[in-house]
Amino acid sequence: QTLALGIDIGGTNTSFGIVNRRGEIVAKGGMRTKDYPVLSTFLQALKKEISPLLEQVGHENIAGCGVGAPNGNFYTGEIAFAPNLPWEGVIPLAKLIGDTFQMKVTLTNDANAAALGEMMYGAAKGMKDFILVTLGTGVGSGFVSNGQMIYGADGFAGELGHVISVRDGRLCGCGRHGCLEQYTSASGIIKTAELWLEERDDETVLRPLKGKVGGRDIHHAAENGDAFALEIFNYTAKILGQTLADAVAITSPEAIIFFGGLAKSGDLLLAPAHLYMEMNLLRVYKNKVQFIQSALPDSDAAILGASALVW
Ligand code: BGC
Ligand code: NA
Ligand code: ZN
Repeated sequence: QTLALGIDIGGTNTSFGIVNRRGEIVAKGGMRTKDYPVLSTFLQALKKEISPLLEQVGHENIAGCGVGAPNGNFYTGEIAFAPNLPWEGVIPLAKLIGDTFQMKVTLTNDANAAALGEMMYGAAKGMKDFILVTLGTGVGSGFVSNGQMIYGADGFAGELGHVISVRDGRLCGCGRHGCLEQYTSASGIIKTAELWLEERDDETVLRPLKGKVGGRDIHHAAENGDAFALEIFNYTAKILGQTLADAVAITSPEAIIFFGGLAKSGDLLLAPAHLYMEMNLLRVYKNKVQFIQSALPDSDAAILGASALVW
């Protein structure tokens, strides 16, 4: 068996691919997670979407399936209390997907999967110490230390998205206040825009979009020099940079790799975030930590990392 199925479940989209041992995606597809508030219908839809791919490459050639999911636990194969997924509580997702496809399934946290993908096939090849940060619907992270993914005592290590970055800040989907993801996720930056449009009277190209601002709108406005949009990026970058400085103090990585929708804003966000991180770093870490934007397209890092769990 030379192929593996990799599935990346995200708060907004689910992507999947069939991957060979060299890390090449030979077939792929996707669907919207958000369209399936009921888990059983999500699993049915997943089956309907993926079955033709399995037929195409030959079911018998598939060694197994790897899944990356928010709040996933590598040890138990469960997802637990995911704030950005429609399904509540603790769910034995690896088992359910295994039953759906009659296949052995290994599951891990989505950001951990992306970190694995970057380590095996992407920007972190050959790196032993790095942090991968996903800036998508939520904010996630995978910590690799001395060449090993950190899972922690219970399998939930590395939840940077729920580090409290702003005291008494915005209410998070996890029930606490001020989590990083409320500010620096794709949805967090939109919240900032909407809130400021409500509270302030800046003249900005975003003003007519009030109530329906999209991430791309903020990006385009900032690219075109809109001061309000640039200030949103600066504010977001400041919170991200400060929290990353704290994260660096924990594992002393050689690089931080960014992945996910908002990471695509590239230097609009990452350049100032890097500056803010440097400003806040303990002296011994200064001018050492590289900032890298994932070079793998779309969610490929997570699909590759998830599929690599099979080998
Ligand atoms: C979840 C993480 C996940 C991240 C990105 C967060 O809300 O708690 O487990 O990695 O979103 O999906
Ligand atoms: Na993680
Ligand atoms: Zn939270």
